[in-house]
Amino acid sequence: MAQILLFVSALCFFAISVLGNLPLPLFLRDEANFSSACLDFEPLKYVSNATVNAHEFVTAGTILKFPGTDSSCSIFNQTVSVDICRIALNISTSDKSGVIFEGWLPRSWTGRFLATGNGGIDGCIKYDDINYGNKNGFSVVGSNNGHNGTGGSAFLHNPELIQDYVYRSLHTITEVGKNLTTAFYSTPANKSYYLGCSGGGRQGIKAAEMYPEDFDGIVAGAPAVNFNNMTSWRASFFGKTGPPSSPNFIPASAWEGFIHDEVLKQCDTIDGVADGIIEDPTLCEFRPEALICNTGQNSTNCLNEGEVEIVRSVLSPLYGSSGELVFPAMQPGSEVMAVQKLYSGTPFPYSLDWFRYVVYNTTAFDDTHFGVSDITAAHALNPFNVQTYPSNLSNFTRAHEGRLLIFHGQQDQQITSFSTERFYNHLASGMDLDFSQIDDFLRYFRISGMFHCNSGPGAWMVGQSDSGSTGFDSDSNVLAAMVRWVEEGVAPDTILGTKFVNDSAANGVERSRRHCRFPYRNTYVGGNASLPQSWECMLPE
Ligand SMILES: *[C@@H]1O[C@H](CO)[C@@H](O)[C@H](O)[C@H]1NC(C)=O
Ligand SMILES: *[C@@H]1O[C@H](CO)[C@@H](O)[C@H](O)[C@H]1NC(C)=O
Ligand SMILES: *[C@@H]1O[C@H](CO)[C@@H](O)[C@H](O)[C@H]1NC(C)=O
Ligand SMILES: *[C@@H]1O[C@H](CO)[C@@H](O)[C@H](O)[C@H]1NC(C)=O
Ligand SMILES: *[C@@H]1O[C@H](CO)[C@@H](O)[C@H](O)[C@H]1NC(C)=O
Ligand SMILES: *[C@@H]1O[C@H](CO)[C@@H](O)[C@H](O)[C@H]1NC(C)=O
Ligand SMILES: *[C@@H]1O[C@H](CO)[C@@H](O)[C@H](O)[C@H]1NC(C)=O
Ligand SMILES: *[C@@H]1O[C@H](CO)[C@@H](O)[C@H](O)[C@H]1NC(C)=O
Ligand SMILES: *[C@@H]1O[C@H](CO)[C@@H](O)[C@H](O)[C@H]1NC(C)=O
Ligand SMILES: *[C@@H]1O[C@H](CO)[C@@H](O)[C@H](O)[C@H]1NC(C)=O
Ligand SMILES: *[C@@H]1O[C@H](CO)[C@@H](O)[C@H](O)[C@H]1NC(C)=O
Ligand SMILES: *[C@@H]1O[C@H](CO)[C@@H](O)[C@H](O)[C@H]1NC(C)=O
Repeated sequence: MAQILLFVSALCFFAISVLGNLPLPLFLRDEANFSSACLDFEPLKYVSNATVNAHEFVTAGTILKFPGTDSSCSIFNQTVSVDICRIALNISTSDKSGVIFEGWLPRSWTGRFLATGNGGIDGCIKYDDINYGNKNGFSVVGSNNGHNGTGGSAFLHNPELIQDYVYRSLHTITEVGKNLTTAFYSTPANKSYYLGCSGGGRQGIKAAEMYPEDFDGIVAGAPAVNFNNMTSWRASFFGKTGPPSSPNFIPASAWEGFIHDEVLKQCDTIDGVADGIIEDPTLCEFRPEALICNTGQNSTNCLNEGEVEIVRSVLSPLYGSSGELVFPAMQPGSEVMAVQKLYSGTPFPYSLDWFRYVVYNTTAFDDTHFGVSDITAAHALNPFNVQTYPSNLSNFTRAHEGRLLIFHGQQDQQITSFSTERFYNHLASGMDLDFSQIDDFLRYFRISGMFHCNSGPGAWMVGQSDSGSTGFDSDSNVLAAMVRWVEEGVAPDTILGTKFVNDSAANGVERSRRHCRFPYRNTYVGGNASLPQSWECMLPE
């Protein structure tokens, strides 16, 4: 009897296969099928220690609202570009901590998985990046990184939350996201990617260091590597500028005006063109003494000696107790945006919170007297190795064939791009490789005229975000370039950036430029400087 049943069911299976009546793969189904598959799906079968916050089929064009989000994140809604199945979970990471998780699975799936990161010391979900990935066919996850809002007060006496922030949240949501993707589409993702900038850039590099299997391709913008020292560097500005009431305080109008103009006067034409963009700020040896007031000169356009010293100090590297380098200098050229935070004469909020709630555990910390002992304390604590300064990524890049694409704005006002160049050299020497060997798995693109992660006077749109994208084309989009590198083995030599007039596509292109990978340097070779063919990537002699 049993044998007959087995035979009959085998026959049925055969008939169904031949007739083509097997369920279509999910990603080929129509909207109604997708909707019911979404609602029938049982996520908690595939995830441990979680509860469901939201589970819904969302059609393209819907504006999703997030009333529970901490208001400091300034994200209240997201327009969803394509049909998705949204699975929002609360996943516990310990008995004292948990992450708020978003997994958005698109109807039209390419077989690719993407995890998104956060920024600063924040716990803000980047819904916009999740949607950006969905739009381009990825199943995507994101999280609040273990706490809520842009501040760090939740870290106080809660090492579990710090652990989530440093690495555990991203690793957890990546595992969960892969589990859900496999179960939902009945097949595992073919390739796995990561996209993040700033604090999110650090998360990507941390993942390469700790969990080399998690991603095949990591796109890390303006990475907050050397994190403890970077936090000290950012804390050090307040002591250098003083508060606005101090005698030699340099107001924003001076930095944005004649000081920035003088930087351009001294350095803009090193690359051959006066266009307000310094292609390679490492070549700019700015001399602030050129701005010293002549006798009788109108002092609104010049500096006294004390002010010159402040400019020099603000643009100098940070050194530690034995004169060792702690963090490289701010690159000249970023003055116009740096006045908003680092040069504003107020403590840098992320550094202040880190020292208060992680390093010293007291709100009494005040960084007016920030000094070498604070640098030492932050460096010594280094919780969960948040430092993120690997000298050998060979488990990721060689063993796993992982690929790492780093980009950094050359007018970054929050993390100097000189830090990324230093990290690149640190890895090269740690792995004992020259740049042509490093090129096999790591490419660093210097995006001239770009501020922190996005915007700026340069050709800054390189596909780092939805609003920074001109299309999913491997020639001009860092994420698409990574996909091609991983899946076809074709590495990007340049990334074609775009700047629209007033940053609006409707106004047309103001300039486009091919950004070079380090150590190549963009050099003007003649013709209309707004066009990419007027520039060439050359190796420094
Ligand atoms: C699923 O899609 C097929 C083919 O388009 C259609 O015939 C069928 O009715 C759909 N089923 C559901 C439950 O919507
Ligand atoms: C993913 O699924 C595997 C087995 O299906 C399970 O062991 C693991 O705990 C899941 N991961 C998470 C983070 O829930
Ligand atoms: C789930 O929680 C239990 C108890 O806290 C823990 O032992 C286990 O490791 C957790 N599982 C996962 C996949 O995190
Ligand atoms: C979405 O949020 C923005 C602010 O980020 C707000 O201006 C807009 O009114 C919101 N839209 C809806 C439909 O809630
Ligand atoms: C989410 O998890 C955290 C930590 O495990 C818990 O404190 C919180 O109450 C949970 N929230 C919801 C909405 O389940
Ligand atoms: C995954 O990759 C395989 C082989 O490259 C390809 O045949 C398949 O279509 C891909 N899957 C999806 C869902 O795209
Ligand atoms: C973050 O907010 C969620 C509600 O949206 C809450 O469940 C969770 O406990 C919060 N996390 C922390 C660390 O406060
Ligand atoms: C100094 O320059 C400012 C702005 O250029 C002008 O408004 C002011 O009148 C000048 N003062 C003197 C004393 O020339
Ligand atoms: C970070 O700062 C500490 C303390 O001054 C120093 O010893 C260390 O070398 C620095 N590390 C890097 C990568 O800059
Ligand atoms: C602050 O608390 C953390 C644990 O959260 C601990 O590692 C650190 O040593 C404490 N710092 C001080 C100055 O007590
Ligand atoms: C590479 O992975 C192995 C096995 O997990 C580990 O022992 C080793 O320390 C890793 N190497 C580096 C440089 O991270
Ligand atoms: C880098 O790490 C790998 C894996 O742990 C190891 O085999 C290799 O020797 C390391 N390279 C150097 C230069 O230390």
